[in-house]
Amino acid sequence: MSKLTAIVLAAGQGTRMKSSLSKALQPMCGKPLLEFVVEAALEAGADEAVVVVGHQREAVTEQLARAFGERVRTAVQDVQRGTGHAVQCALAALNSGTHSVLILCGDTPLLRALDLRALVSARDVGNLELAMLTCRVADPTGYGRVLREAGRIIGIREHRDATEEERRNEEINPGVFCSRLDFLRGALANLSPNNEQGELYLTDIVTAAAKVSEVRGVAAPSETLAGVNDRAQLAAAEEAMHVRIADRWRREGVTIRSGVKIDAGVVLECDATLEHGVVLRGKTHIGARAFIDVGCVLEDVLVGAGAKLLPYSVCSRSTLGEAARVGPFSHVRPDTAIGPEAHVGNFVETKNTVLHRGAKANHLAYLGDGEIGEGANVGAGTIFCNYDGFQKHKTTIGPRAFIGSDSQLVAPVTVGEGAYVATGTTVTKDVPADALALSRTHQENKLGYAARLRARLLAKAKRG
Ligand code: UD1
Ligand code: MG
Repeated sequence: MSKLTAIVLAAGQGTRMKSSLSKALQPMCGKPLLEFVVEAALEAGADEAVVVVGHQREAVTEQLARAFGERVRTAVQDVQRGTGHAVQCALAALNSGTHSVLILCGDTPLLRALDLRALVSARDVGNLELAMLTCRVADPTGYGRVLREAGRIIGIREHRDATEEERRNEEINPGVFCSRLDFLRGALANLSPNNEQGELYLTDIVTAAAKVSEVRGVAAPSETLAGVNDRAQLAAAEEAMHVRIADRWRREGVTIRSGVKIDAGVVLECDATLEHGVVLRGKTHIGARAFIDVGCVLEDVLVGAGAKLLPYSVCSRSTLGEAARVGPFSHVRPDTAIGPEAHVGNFVETKNTVLHRGAKANHLAYLGDGEIGEGANVGAGTIFCNYDGFQKHKTTIGPRAFIGSDSQLVAPVTVGEGAYVATGTTVTKDVPADALALSRTHQENKLGYAARLRARLLAKAKRG
């Protein structure tokens, strides 16, 4: 079967990022930059991809394997001798059966699959040797310029090699090609480094192709072809991608207000609402009709249908059941499972704790390493004392138990089903089901004492 393989160039260091992390791995919308390009190529119909790696190749290779498995392989370019040399390095890694090749740069994350598909079919239709994306930009400085003669593409001139007149040309090479493999092999073998940088330029294959067949130029919008070379360009690309992601989910029936940032790996269901300034990261999944109010930040959180998060709640690596309610100002830390219709209210912090259906902790509590039974109520100011300085211990509260305000539960400890813990109790022993636990001292009222005390203190103050 004739296959289309994508070759993605990502061996460069990305010096202008000024980072210890390779450019390919710089995060954008929660995902490494390079993954956006590989995904677009696969979505456009490439059967597999070969990524040319160099700088930090072990880390880049590992990340690609995690994200794409066997569909993406790597080829090593030890020394960066130019884009043409990089593609040469990829040739040996191509599987037999590859008929045509899609060549992309790993630092153009806004590429769209639909433009790549148009490029591939433009080449396929005439069984051409080469087709390329082109675009016009207001400021073409730094880009290779597309050279035409009587409208036909005849070559590309790098900015640094171009004449003044050629530099005035606003039609640029965004670095995306589709080529017949047999032609490409021959053209790459004939490259020579006779240019200002002494490198092997991939772009020289355009001149070779134009000699034997038409080179078809496929126009694409310039904003989808922007290269990321420094952090200002990274920020601009991320902003554009955030707009694209939000628009995509709006079309799927999600209400999204201004200032919302949604990572690329997030999934949203119909009729969910994201209020102003919500940030959704990682693999967060928001169920149908869920309502996420102003300023909430969620990372790797599964939110059930109809759940409600009130403003400024911060949640990570946790699940919220159907119609659960969280916030305002709740901190839901990793491994929390808030059951259906359960409530976690203001200034409540949870960590590694399960609240079963309908359980409530509405105000000012710390719930760590706990299990709270169905319908149980945890009063304001309750603390699960889970840590002894060396180890964590579990607090278990039975179904429908009631924990009075300002209680401390010193773990490991269990409060049985339906038991009551009186307000202000320090629970150090298990409480049997339906029992009342009470550890505070008895109250004594000294009649008239406050008035006498006031008079005494006043007299003392007057004496000086
Ligand atoms: C290249 C094009 C230029 C085009 C521009 C679009 C060439 C000669 N020039 O220039 O016409 O307008 O892209 O952005 O192709 N890479 C390797 N190995 C190398 C060199 C580069 O893997 O030896 C990779 C880089 O990691 C990067 C990509 O190829 O992802 C492009 O390299 P870069 O040096 O940025 O090329 P430009 O000078 O921008
Ligand atoms: Mg570049």
